[in-house]
This record gives sequence, C-alpha cells and structure tokens, in this order.
Amino acid sequence: MKRSDKYSQAVSRIPPSGIRRFFDLIIGRKDIISLGVGEPDFVTPWNIREKAFYALEKGRTSYTSNWGLLELRQEIAKYLTKYKLHYNPENEILITFGVSEAVDLVLRAILNPGDEVIVAEPCYVSYQPLIELAGGRAVSLNTAKTNFIPRAQEIARLITPKTKALFICSPNNPTGAVIPKSELQKIAALAKKQDIWVVSDEVYAELVYDGQHYSIGAFERMKERAIILNGFSKAFAMTGWRIGYICCPAELMRQVIKLHQYYAICAPIMSQYGALEALQSCRDEVEKMRRSYLQRRNFMISALQKIGLPAAAPSGAFYVFVDIRPTGLTSENFALKLIQQEKVAVVPGNVFGAGGEGFVRCCYATELPLLKEALKRLTHFLKKD
Ligand SMILES: Cc1ncc(COP(=O)(O)O)c(C=O)c1O
Repeated sequence: MKRSDKYSQAVSRIPPSGIRRFFDLIIGRKDIISLGVGEPDFVTPWNIREKAFYALEKGRTSYTSNWGLLELRQEIAKYLTKYKLHYNPENEILITFGVSEAVDLVLRAILNPGDEVIVAEPCYVSYQPLIELAGGRAVSLNTAKTNFIPRAQEIARLITPKTKALFICSPNNPTGAVIPKSELQKIAALAKKQDIWVVSDEVYAELVYDGQHYSIGAFERMKERAIILNGFSKAFAMTGWRIGYICCPAELMRQVIKLHQYYAICAPIMSQYGALEALQSCRDEVEKMRRSYLQRRNFMISALQKIGLPAAAPSGAFYVFVDIRPTGLTSENFALKLIQQEKVAVVPGNVFGAGGEGFVRCCYATELPLLKEALKRLTHFLKKD
C-alpha cells in the first residue's frame, strides 16, 4: 500500500501518552527509584483475590450481561449513597474496563463534530486525545493560577455556543487538588444555567486526606447532566483488574451501552466478582491504605519544603505536583536530568496539559524508605544544579 493516507489521520494526530513515553526510558532499570507511575504499591487485598480465585474455581468464566453483574451494580448503587448519589442499578450504572474505557464511551456518546469540551488542566492524559478522537475540540482551562482548582468564573469565560461539556477530576491527577464543595456548587449552577454536561472523574474519591469527597452529581438537579466515572484501580489497589463504572441518566446510558456492547461486550467476570467483594468487605483495608498514603504525603510535603521546593499539600489522590520553577529548568529537562544523574523518575508536568509546565509529578505510593532515599537524591541533584 503506497497511499499517503494509509493510517487514520485522527489517530496519527494524537500523541502517545506522555507518561508511557517517559516510562519507556526506565523499563527494566532496577537501579532507578520510580515516583512515576500512578499506581498503588499495595497488592489487591486478599479477600478480593480470594473471591476471584473462587469464581474461577466455580467455573465462572463466561461473559456477563453487557451491563455487568446485577449484584455488582446493586452494590455500587448502595455504595454511592455515601456521596449522596442515587442511581438505578438496572439502567443507570454500567460496568466498564476501568475508567479508561468509561472516558471514551461517554465522550463518543455525547459529542458531535466540532463540539467543545472545557477541560480543567493539568489533568489525566487521556481526556484531550479521546475528546479529539470523538470529533470534539478540547478547550483548556489552565488552573495553575487558581491553585489547581477550576473556578466557575473562569469556566464561564470559556463557554461558547459550541460548548457541550465540562470535564473535571477531583481529587485530581496530577495535582492532588480537591475541588471544595462551595466551588463545585458554583460549577453546578453554571452547568445548569448553560445547559451543558459535566463529566466528573472520581476515581480517587476514596483517597481524600483533608475534609471529604463531594460529587458534583449530588447537587440539586445535577443528576440529569452529571456523568460520574469511577473505578476500583486506585482505592482498592486493583489497577490490573481493569474495572470501573459509569453512572449517568438512563437516556444517555441507552447510547453508552451500545458502544460498550460493540467495544468490550462486558468487563472480565472474575474482576467483577473481585469488585463485588471489594465493596462488600474491604472498607477497613481501604482506610488502612488511605492512612498509609497520608503518612507518606506528609513526609513528602515537609521534606520538599526543607529543600526549597515547596508544594501545596495535595488534599487527595497520591501525587505531589512539585513546583520546580526555582531551578530554571523545564519540566522535561528536570525529569530527564534527574533520571540520568540521580536515578529518580518523576513525570514532567507538561504532559498533563496547560499549567503543567514548571512542575513535575511525584507519586508517593512508594514505600517510605524509598521515598526517603529519593528525597536524598533530589537534594543532591539540587545542590549540583
Ligand atoms: C484521573 C484518572 N482517571 C482515570 C484513570 C484510569 O483508571 P483505570 O485504571 O480505572 O482505567 C487514571 C489512572 O491513572 C487516572 O489517574
């Protein structure tokens, strides 16, 4: 084939994941301390693994309903009431291949060519490419000037007749910022006034250290326009199980389920049984992990402060977004030099979109002695540079 349009132009246009690109550099390097990949350092709690073994032992290896196991959807519906979210497990909750699939499905289900989606950035790396692949246009809201909190006032300035949705994530990856309830309320009021969807990625909802998690879907009359994405990867240490879910109005779900049917059929059955167990019996385990992250967050914040790289205490998730502007290096240069000279891997902030340049993301879901060693090396790096 010699055609010049051999590949999809839309796919050719999107960049590879900035996080993965960076991590290809350190694959197999045991000498490097990685504060890079956003992944719990715990293995999945034992009861969850045992439940999945049991499902396999019983020969539960088939497809499930496209929606996912009804028992799991019912358990999710029950669990979400703690965030004042009320969804019907029959037709408003869909089990997906992690939040990753969920993001893609909902964007494809709501966007027409040229529709704009305002994205609060810095943000998780998949939002913008998936908006573009769905035919939409991502409009960046740079939150760096507002302590990484998207403000309703700033969002309002970006709204045009083409705005179809707003995409938020709280607690946030990469900044750890948590949108305060009062700001969420203003954002909800704006979304209602402007009649737009709000896609809310809440995969770190369980990992909040100061205050508590609020969902934008819980505000009055928000259910009809909120699309809540959540999953098991982070709080339950289940990244490899590939399981998450979407909650949205039944009418939208009728569109979303069609895509899921063709894409995935269903999430893996053993992961669904594991997720069911996670919700039924792992509350204490989750709390234990949350406390451990909190201890490590506190260590990171005070250690960074001591070496002159202050970072605002992130209220959730397991990341510190470190301001490296005092070094005069770009994020990419800082991260590359840090790997080369000190064998510590972090992610350059520019890969997370507007407002990320001048920062690097450090994931502190790494055991404390390694964090201490990484900070020692960082101190050495700063003295040299
Ligand atoms: C904010 C955010 N959303 C979604 C994902 C993907 O989650 P999942 O493993 O459920 O696909 C991640 C993973 O790092 C994330 O940080």
